[in-house]
Amino acid sequence: MEVIIQPNTDAAVELVSQLIAREVRANPRAILGLATGRTMESVYGRLVQLHRTEGLDFSRCCSFNLDEYVGLRADDKHSYRHYMNRLFFNQVNIDLRNTHLPDGAAADLETECQLYERRIQESGGIDLQLLGIGQTGHIGFNEPLSPWNSRTRVVTLVAETIRQNASLFGGADKMPRHAITMGVATILESKKCVLLATGTAKARIVAQTIEGTATTSIPATALQLHPHCTIVLDEAAAGELSRTRRRSQD
Ligand code: F6R
Repeated sequence: MEVIIQPNTDAAVELVSQLIAREVRANPRAILGLATGRTMESVYGRLVQLHRTEGLDFSRCCSFNLDEYVGLRADDKHSYRHYMNRLFFNQVNIDLRNTHLPDGAAADLETECQLYERRIQESGGIDLQLLGIGQTGHIGFNEPLSPWNSRTRVVTLVAETIRQNASLFGGADKMPRHAITMGVATILESKKCVLLATGTAKARIVAQTIEGTATTSIPATALQLHPHCTIVLDEAAAGELSRTRRRSQD
């Protein structure tokens, strides 16, 4: 894993946005693996800006998001499809038909998971996977003890994740208890991945992810096995790392 510590959140967001932009410029048909959550909002904001000011072209890109809540339709304002359309897809020139999220409202969730996995494989696989990290150490919604050979499937969200996201739903009782997520193995198969973590709340889990023993108790530690994984942090998220890390001038 390459760990890059930026002086502040804006610089960390800028670097991640530039890594994505670089991928898209080098490979206009890039298959992007995308994430949602609060951390990613400013990344999408910056990519939209790069599209508007520098003509960053997503017209031939294809995307697969990590996860979606079970039971939410695409037009539900809490769904990740709604988040992606609002913050990114509708503001750039990506063809909506080439954007994919699992359908959390599918009648047959098992089949939906298999289809999603097959669609990723048929596309040729993910070139660049963007990742956030939850305080449980989840990547996507792979909660602690997710098997490392797991693939796209329905999972139960743990209490800590519900606590962290409840305010976005107006209370824990309104939040779905299940989600469809790409599996750990699906994520590890991406050709490159970039994980962005910012803020002091992520410092402990970031240190465990980077410096701890790889264990299914902390799903993000599986990234230690990924051949091309970059972790971008701001100073706050890097605050509990014990070793000196490279500072990027990028
Ligand atoms: C969402 C996802 C999650 C989030 C994580 C961090 O698609 O994959 O793993 O990245 O929960 O969320 P925030 O950024 O809200 O702290």
